[in-house]
Amino acid sequence: MGKAFDIGLERLTGTSVPGVTGDPERAQDLEIVRAGGGAVLAPYEETRERRREAGVSATAEPEKERGTFYLETFGCQMNEHDSEKVAGVLLARGYKQVERLDAADVILYNTCSIREKAAQKVFSRLGELRPADWTGKNRRFGEQTPALKDSPSDRSNDRRLQTKSGETGGSGNRLLEDRSQNSVRGLLKPGLPIIGVLGCLAQQEGQEIFERAPWVSLVCGSASYRKLPQLIEELETGNRRVTGLETDTEETFETEITRRDNPLRAYLTIIEGCDKACSYCVVPFTRGPERSRASASVLQEVRQLADAGYTEVQLLGQTVNSYADPSARKMRFSDLLVAVAEVPGIRRVRFTTSHPRDFGKDIVEAIEAVPAICEHVHLPVQSGSTAVLRAMARTYTRDQYLEKIAMMRAAKREISITTDIIVGFPGETDKDFEETLSLLDAAQYDGAFSFKYSPRPHTPSLRMADLVSEGEKSRRLAILIEKQREIQRARNEQLVGKTYEVLVEGKSRRESQWSGHTSSNRVMNFTSQGEESLGDYVQVTVTGATPNSLIGISHRNPLRGWATSEG
Ligand code: 5AD
Ligand code: SF4
Repeated sequence: MGKAFDIGLERLTGTSVPGVTGDPERAQDLEIVRAGGGAVLAPYEETRERRREAGVSATAEPEKERGTFYLETFGCQMNEHDSEKVAGVLLARGYKQVERLDAADVILYNTCSIREKAAQKVFSRLGELRPADWTGKNRRFGEQTPALKDSPSDRSNDRRLQTKSGETGGSGNRLLEDRSQNSVRGLLKPGLPIIGVLGCLAQQEGQEIFERAPWVSLVCGSASYRKLPQLIEELETGNRRVTGLETDTEETFETEITRRDNPLRAYLTIIEGCDKACSYCVVPFTRGPERSRASASVLQEVRQLADAGYTEVQLLGQTVNSYADPSARKMRFSDLLVAVAEVPGIRRVRFTTSHPRDFGKDIVEAIEAVPAICEHVHLPVQSGSTAVLRAMARTYTRDQYLEKIAMMRAAKREISITTDIIVGFPGETDKDFEETLSLLDAAQYDGAFSFKYSPRPHTPSLRMADLVSEGEKSRRLAILIEKQREIQRARNEQLVGKTYEVLVEGKSRRESQWSGHTSSNRVMNFTSQGEESLGDYVQVTVTGATPNSLIGISHRNPLRGWATSEG
């Protein structure tokens, strides 16, 4: 499935896609302050620091003080989590993370290339870093702002000073506020910061990136992140350009020293790469073949996370349910889910993304049997037409997919199902599209992330005929979104009056307004007169519904999220 993780992660972190995972309008309305965003309550701050440092403190003191790095992430949750690991590795080597470009010695973009738009966004960001005199024509980009003119110009002399202005305990990902210029290069630290492109675009374009943006000096795909400190060192000692582009490594990017940015939900990659060969998808190329992590190693990390106070973990993989334990234990994915859920202190286990072909009854049975396994499955269908599914090489028919849905609908717990859909795949006829619409009726998804087909390099569909025009793709997308919106509205309205457990993840600036997720991953915005704190689990009764979220009122006496880890 697509992008670094089938659930198309930008939708979780992004703002405008429909789905159960967020309701930007409502969030804006309430000005929700999310956990990790800064303004949170005092006892929670402590816990957050404890969790954040859990990984990094596992290592000895950094070897020596080095420079500063700025790290911005594009794309999916898998990328977000890779960035947490990259940050952990660099922090452990003595680098300091900064939130502003103008404080960075090393600027890293962890990129996405799942659709053309995502790739374009990265190139335009790189374009902003173009040095003023690159062509010798446009001096405008090279001018420094007065505020920065006093900065020491010799980078090697001021490493420690450099960390002061923008040093942060946060995750980075913040740009210079002033984007009014075509370039931010003139606002960067004096000297030449190292500019590196990581992730899927790096892997996809390889050395080409040096051609398109010659001011980039480091290009590194996800299978080579382990080598990052070494690559940076090579640049610091005089190399002009370095790459890490192997994908044939057996290793997973496993590290003890992850810097976790989300204080409430810990991400864990259990399988990297993808062995499916969906004809539209660049992921098998950018992330290489499937490599699963040994179950004992996964469980050890979950225990560490629980000790650090995490109550919710999310297991990640492009096709997470294709997990194949490489150790003698040979745990099935469903066994691993149960084992993770049994770790003392863990209260919620999520997983994404599942591939329909490998989605078996054992997973549903695990969800039925173990309340801590969340009642949400993200199962991308991509199309409702068997003919299109065949052209996409999805390895299942419409009917086979619907059988999986029926299996989940028959479960003892009510499982929320979400999906991904591509419209306008080459050869998709009006009739094929109608079948996708009728599949929405049949499947009754609680969220769908829909995309216009985007031709990608290195993919078989690039050579397919019968292209659908951009206009027609947009028309189909709009119809699909509207239909799914109505389905979600109706489904959510049926929940009014029911009560769900919610993990408290955000607080509104408005008095008594909070937000969080249910086990089914629905966003719940709720009112409370009680004493909630971020990280608590509370019972919330639904009083209203929108297509993308629920509105509710909480009961008193929340359970302390971190208290549960101790008993
Ligand atoms: N064009 C459009 N959407 C795509 N996806 C993956 N590749 C493409 C592409 N070439 C979508 C799929 C996948 C999601 C993460 O991104 O729906 O599940
Ligand atoms: Fe998902 Fe298919 Fe892409 Fe693999 S190839 S990541 S299964 S869309």
